[in-house]
Amino acid sequence: MKNKKGLVFSGARPTGRQHLGNLLGAIQNYVALQSEYDCIYSIVDIHALTTVETTAGLRENCMEMALDWLAAGIDPEQSIMFIQSHVPQVMELHTLLSMVVPMGKLTDLPTFKEKVRMHPQNVNYGLLGYPVLMSADILLYKAEIVPVGIDQAPHLEFTREVVRSFNYRYGTQVLVEPQMKGTKFTKVLGTDGVNKMSKSLDNEIEIAADEETTQKRVMTMVTDPARLRRSDPGNPDVCNVFSFHKMFSPQEDIDMVDRECRVAGIGCVDCKKLMAKHLNASLAPLRERRRELETKTDQVLEQLYDGADRARKIADQTMREVRDAIGLPRYRA
Ligand code: TRP
Repeated sequence: MKNKKGLVFSGARPTGRQHLGNLLGAIQNYVALQSEYDCIYSIVDIHALTTVETTAGLRENCMEMALDWLAAGIDPEQSIMFIQSHVPQVMELHTLLSMVVPMGKLTDLPTFKEKVRMHPQNVNYGLLGYPVLMSADILLYKAEIVPVGIDQAPHLEFTREVVRSFNYRYGTQVLVEPQMKGTKFTKVLGTDGVNKMSKSLDNEIEIAADEETTQKRVMTMVTDPARLRRSDPGNPDVCNVFSFHKMFSPQEDIDMVDRECRVAGIGCVDCKKLMAKHLNASLAPLRERRRELETKTDQVLEQLYDGADRARKIADQTMREVRDAIGLPRYRA
């Protein structure tokens, strides 16, 4: 590594099979960055522990996500793809960073407040430290660029403050302030047409689903709420199906829907069928690669282990520098 424009790091919690929101909001961006940057992509299983009720599906969820990432074009030769807990140094750095983090900063973060609101029964110490662990992820590899959605902006700003506090407190330059890189499609709405696509809201469209399932999901999509009857003219500008057309359909069909919806020339059912057809066609190559990878999960595990080995080398070096900067007693050489 270290011969391209800079080092990129990003992580995602292992949510299992990925949906279109993950693909357009994150994964495609990860894939595109590989040609210009050295990239490290982490499946952050420890972060998942902060909110998960059971760890029963954790291993499977990591594998499902890795399969989708690989099928979408993450190249494990070029980039480092690994499971967070396989490089336990991140937890050591988390503890050391925690010493320069004021409590109030953590309790003030909007992301923390939101999680407390959503799970008031499960506010554990790990959840409070979530952003510190995320900082450790980024800083352990001295990442310069972090591609994330806008919802993660407070965590990135937090990370930059941690770097400044740490470097100032210990009179060092070891930690590097990362830059946030916002993603192109920040918000993909779910089938309800209102909320961000998410598995927990059951409004997702899986990228690796079969064509029939995809079409069925598309048929449940909410369209322009003011268009009640087939004969009513619709407004594509407020229709989530139309925003999907804009992402997956050829220009002539986008233009046709834009024109015909407004004059009730095309109904929502036909409009959705057309969109599902184009969506399935654009996902076909990814799905074929995934089916192939599903038969080789041993090989995928090896790729994850190899990624962890490469990540650990970088992590060990950073931790030597960090311990030294803090002034911890030396242990052999
Ligand atoms: N908090 C991020 C999210 O929920 C996931 C994450 C963990 C992450 N560690 C990271 C993202 C490091 C970027 C860099 O999406």
